[in-house]
Amino acid sequence: MNDALPSGTDLQSGAFVLGEVIGRGGSGFTYLARDTVLHRTVAIKEFFPPGSSRIGVQVQSPAPIEYSKERAAFVQEARSLARFAHPHIVHVFAVWEENETAYLVTEFLDGRNLQDIVEARGALSQNEALQLIAPVCEATEAVHRGGLLHSDIKPQNIIRCYDGRVVLLDFGLTRPAVTGSYATTLLVPQNAAGTAGYAPLEQYSRVARTGTWSDVYALCATLWHLLSGNPPPDAPDRASGTPLPTLRSINPTVSAHLEHVLHSGLAMDALARPQTVRELWALLDPGASHFEQSQEGLPLAATPSSTRIAPPMPLNVSTRPSINDENAVGMLVVMSVILFVVFFLIMTQQF
Ligand SMILES: Nc1ncnc2c1ncn2[C@@H]1O[C@H](COP(=O)(O)OP(=O)(O)O)[C@@H](O)[C@H]1O
Ligand SMILES: [Mg+2]
Repeated sequence: MNDALPSGTDLQSGAFVLGEVIGRGGSGFTYLARDTVLHRTVAIKEFFPPGSSRIGVQVQSPAPIEYSKERAAFVQEARSLARFAHPHIVHVFAVWEENETAYLVTEFLDGRNLQDIVEARGALSQNEALQLIAPVCEATEAVHRGGLLHSDIKPQNIIRCYDGRVVLLDFGLTRPAVTGSYATTLLVPQNAAGTAGYAPLEQYSRVARTGTWSDVYALCATLWHLLSGNPPPDAPDRASGTPLPTLRSINPTVSAHLEHVLHSGLAMDALARPQTVRELWALLDPGASHFEQSQEGLPLAATPSSTRIAPPMPLNVSTRPSINDENAVGMLVVMSVILFVVFFLIMTQQF
């Protein structure tokens, strides 16, 4: 952490004051910080990629042209995030350039990332892992609905807050999604591979068909890590013959059904995977009947209804009135006609 800015450093002429470093990822340092104008605690990510150095507070890079391109992409991360107001996607507050680098302010998530949780506790039970991945599926589906791919879903980029909220962060590799099925999408140039172990093979190629199925792979690799304590082998190693270990021998709470779903989500052939998060969730939902059957005889009880995980929102939320509403309207019309006829007959008999 030698290169991190010291606690007490002012940014934006004192509008923000940095505290301790709370994270270090591929793009830089994340600090706990104080917003002195709004009087709240925030997190500030500073762009400081590997190879950077510092003279005073100013950041220097050995490759200025690439650096300024990457810094522009970092600012783009803020714009990608700003499109969402979702309980399971980190909320962004501001972004600016200063000290020859850029800063991204987000809400402070008081908790731990899933990688740290697994490192401290070891592999999680099937129930716990599914409870954690459900909100991440919801968040990822919202990202896809917004026309983007996250491209770097992994335990380190997911925080479980102490109040139980689970939040997806790090939109640094987010890119526009090409709509359509695997078979019909255009070739999309790739700039960055994502993270080894979680990225599917298509993300390693300079030209490849990435799509919602690529984030499906990363979601399954993340779930695999939660259940086994480690990510699956890197996709290029798997392509050259390294097999997936048998998950159930590592973690006996994993049902045969879940292991089967993970194998299909981690298929090297993108077409063999569930193509969307919604399809994946339909297979993962622990409340679904296939799960209850496949868990027979296992130490893990079926998820009680009070802890049933809500499925991700449907892709097309219909705004049509329900069938019951339509029936009620029909009934009212018929009743009005009958009343009118009765009234008419009474009137014509009187006069
Ligand atoms: N808003 C936040 N609140 C709390 N911790 C955070 C926040 N954002 C990031 N972190 C921590 O910092 C780490 C790195 O942040 P991340 O956004 O993933 O940066 P990078 O792009 O460098 O990987 C995360 O794994 C997490 O532990
Ligand atoms: Mg990260």
